[in-house]
Amino acid sequence: MMSQCYNLVISANYESNPNIMNSQHANTADEVMCNCSGTKRNHIQKLFEQGLDIDAISRNTGAISGCGGCEWDIAEFLEELAQKEKVKEQGG
Ligand code: FES
Repeated sequence: MMSQCYNLVISANYESNPNIMNSQHANTADEVMCNCSGTKRNHIQKLFEQGLDIDAISRNTGAISGCGGCEWDIAEFLEELAQKEKVKEQGG
C-alpha cells in the first residue's frame, strides 16, 4: 500500500514537471531546484553572486517557502558556490 502511494506521488510530480525524471537536466543551469516556486539553479547562482544569502534568496524567489523539500539541495549548492568563491579568492 505504501509503495502505491509513493508511486502516485512520483507520477503526479512527473506529470506536473516531466523534467523531474530526466537525468539530462540534473545539475544543469536550467534545472529547477525548487519545484514549488519553479526557481532554477542559474537564478539562485545569480542571486548568490549578487551577495544574497539563503534567506534573501528564499524571499526573492519563493524557494524554500512551500514544502521546504528543496532547502537541503539549495543550501548545499550555495555552500559549493561559497567554496568555489573562496578558492578563487585564494588564487586557486
Ligand atoms: S520544492 Fe522548494 S519549497 Fe517545495
